[in-house]
Amino acid sequence: MTITFTLDPVVGPSLCEGILELWVDVSNAGGAVGFVPPVTHDDVRPSLDEHLVGVADGSRRLLVGHDGAGAVAATAFLVRNAHRLHRHWLWACTVMVHPRHQGRGLGRDLMAATEAAARSIEGIDAIRLGCRGGFGLERFYASCGYKEVGRVPGAVRIAPGDDRDDITMLLPLL
Ligand SMILES: CC(C)(COP(=O)(O)OP(=O)(O)OC[C@H]1O[C@@H](n2cnc3c(N)ncnc32)[C@H](O)[C@@H]1OP(=O)(O)O)[C@@H](O)C(=O)NCCC(=O)NCCS
Repeated sequence: MTITFTLDPVVGPSLCEGILELWVDVSNAGGAVGFVPPVTHDDVRPSLDEHLVGVADGSRRLLVGHDGAGAVAATAFLVRNAHRLHRHWLWACTVMVHPRHQGRGLGRDLMAATEAAARSIEGIDAIRLGCRGGFGLERFYASCGYKEVGRVPGAVRIAPGDDRDDITMLLPLL
């Protein structure tokens, strides 16, 4: 299936609902995007609203992928830093591909589109992201050119007795 990526789409109710649906489905399939399953739409909505406030005030950029049927299939948010000493790099957050599309190269396409978006922003020298240990995600990001540059042992508590490392990945753009 062909996926069409759009940077800075017009954010209306149907796009918001589509992203919410994606985020809930990815989380309930065990994806590492800020939640531990099971989650409901009401659990996830405040986190989406936070992203959308940032999109509205220009501090975050939204990259969205739509499938051929017009459904939201993938997202990444590019988050600028407010701190004056960190403004030369940004965070990639909420990187996700719908479970029905995973494993077919779309994740790599999403990261290529994320990189292109970051390169189009003046003064951005690197993309940084954080991921949970134990999901193999560092191997996925490494396949997209990112390098592991930090790891905080046990910083992510999935459940009592199940702590995972918080891994920092970096893609220099210079
Ligand atoms: C992580 C994710 C974005 C990858 O998307 P995808 O479409 O499944 O990935 P691709 O098909 O493009 O895979 C690209 C490569 O990464 C590998 N890969 C993908 N997910 C992987 C994982 N979890 N662990 C190890 N390797 C992985 C693939 O095997 C492939 O390698 P290959 O080319 O050598 O075969 C997707 O699985 C997802 O949305 N997961 C749930 C949300 C999530 O955890 N996001 C990460 C937030 S930090």
